[in-house]
Amino acid sequence: MAIEQTLSIIKPDAVKKQIIGEIQTRIHQAKLDIIAIKMVKLTKEQAEGFYAEHQDKPFFANLVNFMMSGPIVVQVLQGENGVERYRQLMGPTDLSKAAAGTLRADFANSMRENAVHGSDSLASAEREIAYFFVDSEIFQ
Ligand code: PPS
Repeated sequence: MAIEQTLSIIKPDAVKKQIIGEIQTRIHQAKLDIIAIKMVKLTKEQAEGFYAEHQDKPFFANLVNFMMSGPIVVQVLQGENGVERYRQLMGPTDLSKAAAGTLRADFANSMRENAVHGSDSLASAEREIAYFFVDSEIFQ
């Protein structure tokens, strides 16, 4: 299987709950390596740019406001089939549909405050990683 990189975000709700370490432990247990990391607080422009593909969705403003409401941890993960395996570890957006043991089943509060983000495809991963990191900040 191919070694892939994906973008992971620990969202403001999870940072506020002080569960960064717990989420990272789950990531390590899933055999995904953290190869880049930073804590940032997004501006409105940065949050809108990151989620630009959702700008016509009814929840867009709600999502942007939430993502700029506090610091987030942005990380690049790497591992076999990394994009899909991190999505599986997260569970679906709607936590009521998330299987026990997934990050969202265990840590999300709601559709909006759902603890984590992960790239939904290899193409998204490339774009999202480049949105936050330059090559010299990524340690393969
Ligand atoms: S879609 O319509 O299927 O493309 O949407 P989805 O992939 O489920 O979600 C895209 C991102 O929007 C967030 N989201 C929301 N935020 C706030 N309020 C509501 N109601 C809401 N519904 C979805 C969702 O968490 C996704 O964010 P990321 O960061 O990609 O997980």
